[in-house]
Amino acid sequence: MLGTKNSILGIDIGTSNIKIVHLKQNEKWQLVNWALTKTPKNVMVNSRITDRNKLALTLKDVLSQNNIKEKKAVTAVSNHRIITRYITLPNMPLNELKEAVKWEAKNHIPIFNDNLLIDTKVLKRTDDNKLKIVLAGLDKNTSSEYLNMLLDAGLDPIAIDIYPVALERCFSSLDIEEPYCIMDIGASLTKLVIIKDGYIYADNIIHLGIQNLQGNIIDYFNSNYTSPILNELIEEINRFLQFFSSQNRGKNIKKLVLTGGGALWKGLVDFITQELGIPSASEFDLPDIDIDFKTLNLKKEDLHILSNAIGLAMRGVVI
Ligand SMILES: Nc1ncnc2c1ncn2[C@@H]1O[C@H](COP(=O)(O)OP(=O)(O)OP(=O)(O)O)[C@@H](O)[C@H]1O
Ligand SMILES: [Mg+2]
Repeated sequence: MLGTKNSILGIDIGTSNIKIVHLKQNEKWQLVNWALTKTPKNVMVNSRITDRNKLALTLKDVLSQNNIKEKKAVTAVSNHRIITRYITLPNMPLNELKEAVKWEAKNHIPIFNDNLLIDTKVLKRTDDNKLKIVLAGLDKNTSSEYLNMLLDAGLDPIAIDIYPVALERCFSSLDIEEPYCIMDIGASLTKLVIIKDGYIYADNIIHLGIQNLQGNIIDYFNSNYTSPILNELIEEINRFLQFFSSQNRGKNIKKLVLTGGGALWKGLVDFITQELGIPSASEFDLPDIDIDFKTLNLKKEDLHILSNAIGLAMRGVVI
């Protein structure tokens, strides 16, 4: 096909920063523009939008200041508000899958009720003719808050996606030894996604981020001080990785892919890889998209801040 297949914005509303990328897809994805602004205070509480007007205005301002004209946009709701389950079903036609998923949701989602919007996505068709799918349950109020906020900002919402899928998309083109764990260390949350056999095996969220760790990182590396918060982070990560191992005949995670603002703290990255005894995939395990760093006034490591937004935009517009 000739011409641009896709042109789309990925909007990642983090607890500390809002990150926007504009991607276009020809043969390969290309980053054509990006923007970052502070998330205003009190517009979000526990992943719920508490001040829709202010958040929409902030988006409008940052888009116009950065001369971003594309309207089609994908954003995500934090895992706080979303229940995800990764399941395997026998291969079947799409119309049957829709019915099957309704039944599966009742079995797999503990608080299944009419207020829950259930969505599903086929992650992979396996060689032995099975479907790996993600079930996502999101309460209807939360999804309409996000949709309306994007509309208020003058945007054309294409999808409300989920972070684990965005993170998987962002790094899936890289050749990383499996099973691996993507670890997005943000300002207040650490999101974990395990990838095995080319699809998401499980995800988890830890309510600790750079804001909690900052002082401790400095303390830790300047002295022999043991930080309870750093230890808590490692313990929580270990618990999740051990759950994987116990379900997979003792198989261990081979690589860590660290991203988010926390990946810019070299001391923290070294600490985590040492404590877990798992190496990071590479120094710059960054998404495989075309980027003119100079024109875009971007440094390679800045991509860690933009990784969620990039993965959201890579969803593309289904055409
Ligand atoms: N250039 C930088 N060098 C070091 N640290 C940075 C840099 N830029 C941002 N950070 C740190 O990264 C954090 C923000 O990261 P990020 O944008 O991934 O968080 P967020 O997505 O807003 O939060 P969350 O994912 O927890 O909701 C800030 O707390 C800041 O300390
Ligand atoms: Mg984040």
